[in-house]
Amino acid sequence: MHNTESSTANYTGLEGSILLKENYMSDAHIVINQGGTSSGKTYAIEQALFCMACETEKQVVTVVGQDIPNLKAGALRDALNIYSSSPALQAMVKSYKSTDRVFEFHNGSVIEFKSYENSQDAKSGKRDYLFINEANGIDWSIYSELALRTRKKIFIDYNPNSAFWAHDKLIGRSGAQLIISDHRHNPYLSKQTRDKIEDLRDVDVELWRVYARGLTGKITGLVLSNWHICEKIPEDAKPIAAGLDFGFSNDETGCILVYKQNGELWIDEVLYEKGLTNPDISLKLTAANISKSTEIVADSAEPKSIEELKRLGWYITGAKKGADSIKNSIDILKRFNLNVTRRSINLLTELGRYKWKTDQGGKTLNEPVDSCNHLIDPLRYVALNKLKINKLSKAKSLLPKTNLQPYDFATVHLLK
Ligand SMILES: Nc1ncnc2c1ncn2[C@@H]1O[C@H](COP(=O)(O)OP(=O)(O)OP(=O)(O)O)[C@@H](O)[C@H]1O
Ligand SMILES: [Mg+2]
Repeated sequence: MHNTESSTANYTGLEGSILLKENYMSDAHIVINQGGTSSGKTYAIEQALFCMACETEKQVVTVVGQDIPNLKAGALRDALNIYSSSPALQAMVKSYKSTDRVFEFHNGSVIEFKSYENSQDAKSGKRDYLFINEANGIDWSIYSELALRTRKKIFIDYNPNSAFWAHDKLIGRSGAQLIISDHRHNPYLSKQTRDKIEDLRDVDVELWRVYARGLTGKITGLVLSNWHICEKIPEDAKPIAAGLDFGFSNDETGCILVYKQNGELWIDEVLYEKGLTNPDISLKLTAANISKSTEIVADSAEPKSIEELKRLGWYITGAKKGADSIKNSIDILKRFNLNVTRRSINLLTELGRYKWKTDQGGKTLNEPVDSCNHLIDPLRYVALNKLKINKLSKAKSLLPKTNLQPYDFATVHLLK
């Protein structure tokens, strides 16, 4: 493939990368798009799906994501961008209903965006085309029920952090085509984005292989593995502090809010955005309902920003960094159960990529990679300033263990 090659799907007026052509023209039943980050997989597959919905009447297209927040931040956002950039496509779409997340076309076709709880849930409905976005977040049992009920074609895409069911059960089988892409196949990226992806080579070769080259990795050695997804912060959780990391043109400004309940930490993403000035950050914090009495622990490497936010009325302090503070804060965080809200998409992504550095020979070093940390660093700052705990006592959840015997009311009370 040539890196600047692009093609046009004429009738919809959509212009795309080589990946649009490859996906649209493929005659395989299952088209597997494995790739590095920002190679244009999701965009191209959705463009192909729009074309297919337009050219034949009454087609049903289902786009599946792990959950609704993931769809909104990824596949659905891309689809809305594609739709709003093409007047020819808009002329063919009758309506987009944001409550149901369905595009309806004048020719009777529909494109629906869905997530499924389990394989039973996935048995409802049939479709002509299926797209599984970030397929390594979807269970095989859900995929196979959906695939059984797909008449024409299946597209899947993912970053290959490690092998999963696509590798074990699909790649190499007849009817399945594998397309491996990386950012060099996407002509629509800025140099800055490309450089950032390539810079991963200096951070960690394994991360670079996966995210810059789309090669199947073995991303092991995650720094934090004691985290779970929760639906929301419990009502009675007590706010501890917010954590804030400053970014600007190259890196995102990241902010999270940390709560405690039942001896566990509950974490919600507040902000993850580039190009924010300090007054912008202040407005965003207000918009996110952060109270001026909530302590914000910020990166102490930026005293000027901290002072500016203080003058704007925020209760903001600098993280107590020092020798070994990275390792110490990680040790503190490891002592807790970390519950991360499902809508904290960027924090969850970072947690899945935050690993220990390795040396040339692949040996794990005692230092985490210095990337994928614009929300993890603020979490560490909160740990450093607010969560110092007695080294000897491991923080434990106060919640009852689920494997306890049921409390037998009748026996206990009648025997008295
Ligand atoms: N045909 C196109 N026209 C305009 N912009 C495009 C096009 N294709 C891709 N892009 C741009 O490239 C970005 C990255 O593409 P996309 O999100 O599809 O990558 P991806 O391979 O799915 O990445 P990831 O693996 O991180 O999900 C898009 O957000 C969009 O800005
Ligand atoms: Mg994608």
